[in-house]
Amino acid sequence: MRQSIIERKFIQMLPCFNKRKPASATISNVNRRHFLLSGFALPLLAPRRAFCASGRIDILPDEPIGTIAPTIYGHFTEHIGGVIYDGVWVGENSTIPNVGGIRKALVDRLRQIHAPVIRWPGGCFADSYDWRDGIGPRDKRPTRTNFWANTPYLWKGPNGPQKYEPNAFGTNEFARFCQLAGAEPYLAGNVRSLPARDFYQWVEYCNSPAGTTTLAGLRGGPPFNVQYWGVGNESWGCGGNFTGDEYAIEFRRYTEWIPRYGLDLHFIASGPNVADYRWTESFFSKLLEKGPRTLRNVFGFALHYYCGGANRGLADQFSVEEWYKQLADAVVMEELVRNHWEIMGQADREHRVKLVVDEWGSWHETDPSIAPNYLFGYYPSLRDALVSGLTLDIFNRHADKVALACDAQLINNINALFIGAEDRFIVTPNFYVFDMYKEHQGATSVRTVISSPILAESSAHGLPVLAGSSSIRGNRCTLTVVNSGVQSSQEVEIDIRGRRITGAKATVLTSSDIHAHNSFDHPDAVQPRQENNLRAASPFRYQFAPASVTRLDFDLA
Ligand code: AHR
Repeated sequence: MRQSIIERKFIQMLPCFNKRKPASATISNVNRRHFLLSGFALPLLAPRRAFCASGRIDILPDEPIGTIAPTIYGHFTEHIGGVIYDGVWVGENSTIPNVGGIRKALVDRLRQIHAPVIRWPGGCFADSYDWRDGIGPRDKRPTRTNFWANTPYLWKGPNGPQKYEPNAFGTNEFARFCQLAGAEPYLAGNVRSLPARDFYQWVEYCNSPAGTTTLAGLRGGPPFNVQYWGVGNESWGCGGNFTGDEYAIEFRRYTEWIPRYGLDLHFIASGPNVADYRWTESFFSKLLEKGPRTLRNVFGFALHYYCGGANRGLADQFSVEEWYKQLADAVVMEELVRNHWEIMGQADREHRVKLVVDEWGSWHETDPSIAPNYLFGYYPSLRDALVSGLTLDIFNRHADKVALACDAQLINNINALFIGAEDRFIVTPNFYVFDMYKEHQGATSVRTVISSPILAESSAHGLPVLAGSSSIRGNRCTLTVVNSGVQSSQEVEIDIRGRRITGAKATVLTSSDIHAHNSFDHPDAVQPRQENNLRAASPFRYQFAPASVTRLDFDLA
């Protein structure tokens, strides 16, 4: 890769760059001639005094990007594999500690990370789900074939709730789960196999005031006040195999009349599969054929992006090359956000509609040591934690564009935060990332210029060693940084423009083994460490550990 003039200039400006080899340059995975600089004004970056840093981070409080919607730290729960049955729902008569059948340890941990929103019941399951099957007395609810039953892996397993849906966990149970977790419910409606009437009657069931409608009576108790409603899921595929134009017509129809009950309902349209820009163009242009008023009904446009894939190897067995490949794939999210946003803006000039990335995460092969009914189950590793950090930093950096996001999925599946099997329950490294990043929720994202070497490995595809985001809330600044390099720590000078740092502490998630993961036998193999009372100085110097996710908390004068 060729260096730009600006890159060469910057490297010359680093005081001791050309004089001696900084400690971190002993490593092979960093090509020190290659630095990545993004969107900065050169004079801002001039170092004030000699320091052998291998990078710089300039936090610019005067350049706010937007408030970080807490809802970008959301979660996704589908009736797939071990997510609902045995994950969330253990049943009221279980010996596993539960609150009305819901796993208590899970609820406690969700409160800890301030889980803001939970999406349910799918995923692909949503477009074959009839919400009426999951209401009323549990022993009267029908059993149906689960959308995922025919998946070869699951099919090998025993018959059970993962294959034959008992509907023990329905709308009331989900609403209770959200209430216990302190999260907003986000329901995904069925567009492929139920008429629009069922969609608005589900809204009526959830939201009509007690004592008003027959459905409110069936629900019992106060309304759930569900504000987030997905109009189908992956309507380009399992959700109906529509084209963008066809789906726009369905979307208009499904959202044309919905009872509001004084609530501000947020409808989320099914967006593209990864980089299917044609879907985005065709959806918006067809929608707008009926005039700009139609945009009023679209709060969000759902993008789905997983990195890796079900055939790309096991979660805890990979080479260094594959480590970099996975991380490089993760940051593709940024170009997807930018590109879809730009296309959306051609139709929606004021950008009323925001992006909702309601499925994202690292996806690997199902771990053969896990019971076959736990489809797409595995133990996420440190590598997945870095993917989570990189992704959440992208959302923070695009706080003006991304209004909501859901990690897929919450427990026992894909990019899980938790693994639960009967009475055993552990948190994964992903959980710790959400716990560390919760400080960003509701704070103001500010432009952060990270000047970092880029990784030389071909599988890293030009990934910078360091990436991150920062936010300001009053006299506090939170900086989160991922060091993707597996061998080197990165010594960095951090400047918060116009502010003096009076206190600093760090939380670091890393391991000497890049494959490290938590398991039932070793539940604490990966957990963050605290570094308190770091020497406060402006600029501040810090060494980011290799293969790590770090949060720095600064007190500002
Ligand atoms: O998260 C698993 C599946 O991936 C979801 O059901 C679907 O929406 C996506 O393709």
